[in-house]
Order: sequence, then C-alpha cells, then structure tokens
Amino acid sequence: MKTIITNDYEDMSEKAAQIIIETVKEKPNAVLGLATGATPMGLYRRLVADHKEMGTSYKYVRTINLDEYVGLTKVNPQSYAYFMYENLFCHIDIALKNTYIENGTALDSMIECKRYDKMLNKLPRDIQLLGLGSNGHIAFNEPYTSFSSTTHIVNLAENTIKDNAIYFDNIEQVPRQAYTMGIKSIMKAKQIIILASGFKKAEIVSKLVQGNVDSALPASILHNHCNCILILDKEAASKL
Ligand code: PGA
Repeated sequence: MKTIITNDYEDMSEKAAQIIIETVKEKPNAVLGLATGATPMGLYRRLVADHKEMGTSYKYVRTINLDEYVGLTKVNPQSYAYFMYENLFCHIDIALKNTYIENGTALDSMIECKRYDKMLNKLPRDIQLLGLGSNGHIAFNEPYTSFSSTTHIVNLAENTIKDNAIYFDNIEQVPRQAYTMGIKSIMKAKQIIILASGFKKAEIVSKLVQGNVDSALPASILHNHCNCILILDKEAASKL
C-alpha cells in the first residue's frame, strides 16, 4: 500500500480526483466503485468542476456503490442513492441507468445480495474508492467481518451508528442495518484509493499503516492489494 500525505482536505481531494479523471480520460467506459460519507465530498466537487470546466465526460462510465441502508428508498434524503445523485450524478453527464447501488427496500435480501454480486462480477472495477471508518471499517464491513465476504447485510457497530448520527435528526433515526459490498469484492478492483481526513482518523490510520493484516481492522486487508493508495491529509497522518 502506497501512502501519500497531503497538506489538507482540499489537497487530498484534488489528488484523488486527478487519479479518477485520468482513468476516465484514458478509458471512457471505466467502471468506478464509489463511496459515500463526508470524506469523498471534496473529491466529488472536483469531478463536477472538472466536468463543467474541462468537459470530462461520464457518458459511458458505469458506477457501483459500496453500500446502502436497509429500509431507505432511493428518494429518502438520508439514503446513499440520494447522496450520490445530489453530490455527483445530477451534475455530470452520466446515464442514471449506469449507476448501481444496492436496493435498500428489496423484498428479499438474499436475492438482492446475489443480484449485486452478479453485477460486481460482470463489471470489474477499474478503481474502487473507499473511506476509512473510525473503527477501521471499509464500506460497512465492520471489525471481524470475514475477508472472504461478498455482498451481505450487516448490523452496524455502535460507533458507526454514532458516527453517522450527524446526518440524521437524532441517533434513533439511524438505520441499524445496511447492505454492503463484501471485502472479497472490494479487493477485486484493479486499483483502490482509500482516503482519510482529520484528527478523528489519526489513531486508526496509525494502526493501519503499521501493516499487520488483522480482521479486527478490516482496512488492513488492503496491504495485500497490489495497487492500493492511501491518501491522507496532515491531520489524519498526525500520529504516523
Ligand atoms: P466518513 O466515513 O467519510 O463520513 O468519515 C467513512 C466511512 O465510515 O467509511
């Protein structure tokens, strides 16, 4: 895993955006694995600005997202489908039919997980973007998730519910379950970019960079990926 330390959040976002923009320019039908959360918002702002100013086109790009809350429809403002639409898709020329995310209100969760895995196998990702949970999770793969996991439903960890409560009116509203891409599927992407920003990620970043692969820290599996870049801002790197 290559580690890049940048000055600040904006710089981190810029570095990651450049990698994605270059990929899309070289391969107009690239498949991008995308993430939600506070961390990638600056990156998405840059993709939008670049699209508007430089004309980078997403007409043939396909995107596959990591995770979605169980029970939220895609028109619910707290859903990750809605987040992606608001922060990226509605501002660029991507065809919405080429953007994939788990269906949080699927009637049969087993069938939904299988459907998503089939799609992941059909569409190998050129890049997978990841945030880092303060407990070391990637997507919603909480500590001790099997490294061989595929798409599944998780019971969210208490600290993840607390971390995500800022996006809801109160903590009771945070869904307790989510669909998530599994760790095995994440690892199949050709390139992985993992971002971490701010002092609240400094502790977990320092554990991650130590290099032991341990399911107690799900992101540590990324040490076994042959093309993974960890991009940090100074604050997230402050305990290295
Ligand atoms: P954040 O979440 O970007 O909102 O910090 C990261 C994550 O939990 O994966």
